[in-house]
Amino acid sequence: MASRAPPFEPSRPARAIFLAMASKAHLELDGKGLDLPVAVGSEGEVGIDISKLRAQTGAITLDPSLANTGACESAITFIDGERGILRYRGYDIADLAEHASFPEVCFLLIQGRLPTRAEREDWRSRLTRHSLVHEDMKKFFEGFPPSAHPMAILSAMVASLSAYYPEQETPEEIDLNIVRLLAKAKTIAAFSYKKSIGQPFIYPRNDHTYLENFVRMMFAVPAEPYQVEPVVRSALNKLLILHADHEQNCSTTTVRTVGSGGANLFASISAGICALWGPLHGGANQAVIEMLEQIRTDGANYKKYVDLTKAKDASFKLMGFGHRVYKNFDPRAQILKRAADEVLAKLGVNDPLLEIAKQLEEVALADDYFVERKLYPNVDFYSGILYRAMGIPTNMFTVMFALGRLPGWIAHWLEQRNTPGARITRPRQIYTGDTARPWVPLDER
Ligand code: SDX
Repeated sequence: MASRAPPFEPSRPARAIFLAMASKAHLELDGKGLDLPVAVGSEGEVGIDISKLRAQTGAITLDPSLANTGACESAITFIDGERGILRYRGYDIADLAEHASFPEVCFLLIQGRLPTRAEREDWRSRLTRHSLVHEDMKKFFEGFPPSAHPMAILSAMVASLSAYYPEQETPEEIDLNIVRLLAKAKTIAAFSYKKSIGQPFIYPRNDHTYLENFVRMMFAVPAEPYQVEPVVRSALNKLLILHADHEQNCSTTTVRTVGSGGANLFASISAGICALWGPLHGGANQAVIEMLEQIRTDGANYKKYVDLTKAKDASFKLMGFGHRVYKNFDPRAQILKRAADEVLAKLGVNDPLLEIAKQLEEVALADDYFVERKLYPNVDFYSGILYRAMGIPTNMFTVMFALGRLPGWIAHWLEQRNTPGARITRPRQIYTGDTARPWVPLDER
């Protein structure tokens, strides 16, 4: 029998065009019908446009964590959670992690294209020359206790940049502030680390690249020459690229929301830093290492912790596992797992937590609880192992995530600001509180 031709599967862009022509949605509410327009993305994603719903029906939709709601149309990053695809401006994350420099990816996300050689050199030079922070800002560090979490320092210092650079309106002013933010954030991060260990700040150098400056500001000590290890620079480059953007995640949606009210770049990004801090989001990389340490001190009994996850009352989660969008695998986690093996071998680091992480992954992925819920390692599961191997302390891990995510937040802030007709983000709600009731005088309560 002739083999059956595989079912016709139109390419995704072709599917998008087909859907754009063919699609509409029909809603029935209390017997009244309403046709709703449909937006179709360049990759064939379909969104039912409800922007006129309340005006036409008096009703709103309800989607508490916005898991089914598109907050905007965006041309920056595409994720296909079912197929484990992540692309920045159409470029696959594996290609960028392999071939690009982090500054190049910053340019790509913000400008929408890869830089020419001349543009790349100019961009690099600007990111280096603006690395210093105003000397007065050093005084801020004196006010923080040594135990201050570096995310508290980073969010406060980034918001404070608006006090030093109040010119924030014209495209030229915004472009300069973007460079200042990208360049100074790494200096603030390194200074917060030096502050926490009581060492003097190391200043950036104009003959260093973005990553060389960061690594040197973190680990050099005065009066001693410091050589940045190529394996550390390469691993850090990969880590920052993998974290650079991820469409409408919690912190990026925060940046877009704050920016939609007209708040300046520094204030909007500071809000994103705070949103990233939570252990369910960017704070997970710190929580993963703390969990792996706990498992190690508990005799590496990882099966106990897998079982604890399933005992609902234990409210224990396997940190670094699960994702709202990825339901097969997080491509970033796969790249980082390979990188962890390579980098630790090159650095001669033997970290028992890596073995525990791998065993934990193996046991979990064979367990129905995880398989049924499509829970796989996410970007945070292996990243901490790499940061540790480079000598970066655990409480700096989320700051590293923030440094990586900066270009993505900036690109989304700009896209939101430059979208014609963009309005302030102001969702509705379904009120469930008390209905109207009369005032009660104090002595009658
Ligand atoms: C990041 O959005 C992004 O793109 C984020 C990010 C980015 O680049 O910006 O990718 C970065 O934040 C990665 C995620 C880091 N967080 C963690 O690793 C924390 C642990 N993971 C979970 O808290 C959770 O998986 C989330 C927060 C990541 C996703 O939460 P969802 O989509 O709301 O899923 P859910 O909590 O509704 O879980 C569905 C089910 C539940 O079980 P049931 O109620 O159906 O029985 O899966 C269970 C959850 O209890 N579950 C877990 C689990 N994650 C989900 N059970 C144990 N361990 C976990 N890690």
